[in-house]
Amino acid sequence: MAGKAQEDITSVLHENRLFKPNSDFSKQAHIKSRTAYNQLYKKAEKDPEAFWADLAKKELTWFKPWTEVLDWKPPFAKWFVGGKINVSSNCLDRHLEGPRKNKAAIIWEGEPGDTRTLTYQDLHREVCQFANVLKNKGVKKGDRVALYMPMIPELAIAMLACARIGATHSIVFGGFSAAALRDRINDAGAKLVVTADGGNRKGGVLTLKDKVDEALKKTESVETMIVVKRTNSDVKMKKGRDYWWHEEMKGASAVCKAAQLDSEHPLFILYTSGTTGKPKGIVHTTGGYLLGATVSSKWIFDLKENDTYWCTADIGWVTGHTYIIYGILSNGATTVMYEGVPTYPEPDRLWDIVEKYRVNIFYTAPTAIRALSRLGNEWPKKHDLSSLRLLGSVGEPINPEAWMWYHKVIGGGNCPIVDTWWQTETGSIMITPLPGAIATKPGSATLPFPGIEAEVVNKKGKKVPADVGGYLIIKRPWPSMLRTVWKNPKRFKETYWSDFPGVYFSGDGARRDKDGYIWIMGRVDDVMNVSGHRLGTMEVESALVSHPTVAESAVVGAPDEIKGTAICAFVTLNTGHKPNEALKKKLKAHVTQEIGAIARPDQIRFTNHLPKTRSGKIMRRLLRDIAAGREAMGDTSTLEDYTVLAKLRQDED
Ligand code: PRX
Repeated sequence: MAGKAQEDITSVLHENRLFKPNSDFSKQAHIKSRTAYNQLYKKAEKDPEAFWADLAKKELTWFKPWTEVLDWKPPFAKWFVGGKINVSSNCLDRHLEGPRKNKAAIIWEGEPGDTRTLTYQDLHREVCQFANVLKNKGVKKGDRVALYMPMIPELAIAMLACARIGATHSIVFGGFSAAALRDRINDAGAKLVVTADGGNRKGGVLTLKDKVDEALKKTESVETMIVVKRTNSDVKMKKGRDYWWHEEMKGASAVCKAAQLDSEHPLFILYTSGTTGKPKGIVHTTGGYLLGATVSSKWIFDLKENDTYWCTADIGWVTGHTYIIYGILSNGATTVMYEGVPTYPEPDRLWDIVEKYRVNIFYTAPTAIRALSRLGNEWPKKHDLSSLRLLGSVGEPINPEAWMWYHKVIGGGNCPIVDTWWQTETGSIMITPLPGAIATKPGSATLPFPGIEAEVVNKKGKKVPADVGGYLIIKRPWPSMLRTVWKNPKRFKETYWSDFPGVYFSGDGARRDKDGYIWIMGRVDDVMNVSGHRLGTMEVESALVSHPTVAESAVVGAPDEIKGTAICAFVTLNTGHKPNEALKKKLKAHVTQEIGAIARPDQIRFTNHLPKTRSGKIMRRLLRDIAAGREAMGDTSTLEDYTVLAKLRQDED
């Protein structure tokens, strides 16, 4: 690990530009100045439990107050013990009493251009109805429900309906394969799956129901499937198992009391890649998660009553969970949801949506910013983007060039940019500028959120001096932290709490500059960040070796201008198989089938042997250098041989 962190420091640009919040923005912001931030930070540091408890009282609506703020038996935390609360009633019911009743909760646009607006009242009604559908199908508190859906309002409705009755949802991104879906359904033991006949993507149809059918051939827990009609695709409905959403909703009552759930009741499981071949089910619970989501949304996106907020993520990732649905609706704000790809039918689709709905706050990923900037300034210039007042970035380090383009061309030089660092595990944003308070530096996520004690340490857990790279840790439990890995507390402990005992290790490398600003340098473990999505190298390797021609494989990330990281797979073949272009294609397709298109290797390189140390460890650093072109290999047309290089670098890894 240490090697990688050190290595990356040299590649971090020394960026000196500083962008102070403009005073008009600061005046109206929730947190108005650096002094205000410092005060909040200090207050939280002095008495974190009192800090969070005050906010939990102020920002959330409880059925019953807690008796203990935090029960911390490292690494297991319980927040607001004894408190009773419901996420769906915090996101809906409490807004129905006043002027938000008929305010837009969700403004949705389908890829073909169809639109739908659901007011808080509408959303409440449909959530209650679908909660009753779930109940009618035998779903009870604590049961798991898998959601494998396109970005349509029914996904939001299904999430909130689960939350309403205390069913734990497990959303599986629609781009994952049938095999990946099957594994996630089996691990969670889901009883019911909600899907759609398809989704619209790049002008075509993304099939979903067919993949669920395939997955269910090898699952035992699922009793029922509910299917939304979205694309009118031809799907086969299995009698007694499959039901149409619209038919079930017809007769469903719109009255459904929100369950009074324990603060620690599991709200959702979300699978994410780690360093083994098997993704882990990150478990988030109710009260603490909602508090993190609510307060961070309010302060970081500076949400105001009249704002139209849009996050372009897919709800299949944690960003969509927290910052399209829970954190935004809990604040009673208007969230925009878009079904399709950013470049359909033309490269200005996102800017068209910003103009059409007069979006004020826009949150996206660096990979999208880089890709869209490549397409030329004429696309954003065709649109009036003057409604924007705040921009956000998430998922991977944003390079200063992309930051500057975002700032100038999209933000017109007027919008603060919040570069937000967090993870599926953290539940909500941990390191970020507060837009009215913190001067930003392009490429830095800046400072920890109040209540979050982040530090950069060396291998021994000691704080490193300014501008020295190290490991990013979080020293104290926080309300929206993951509680465990589903059915695997041992893995939870080992993965996050054993490198530095008693503190949370993020898996990221970082440095702090002399002003205390944090610069994230990327993963220091065998996890890649591909277009802002996490993928374990082992996961791709397991998929490759499950192909009959493959003997062994090693997967590493290589720098890529758009995706951030490209996937490069080194493969040795079983005897009797010859390396050729056709086999490369087959292997790429095989990985797509096993995991999904996001895991499809960009490069496959055949080799006779993988370079290994004397003790038999694959020399990943050497492979990374080769993949990045830092180590010249001469002619690499078909079969490569790294034995000489490996000998030269024997002691490195
Ligand atoms: O490496 C960090 C990177 O994304 C990882 C978390 O991935 P995931 O759980 O899929 O969640 C992504 C969305 C929250 C982190 O370990 N990452 C996330 N945000 C940033 C980032 N790297 C640099 N800067 C960020 N703002």
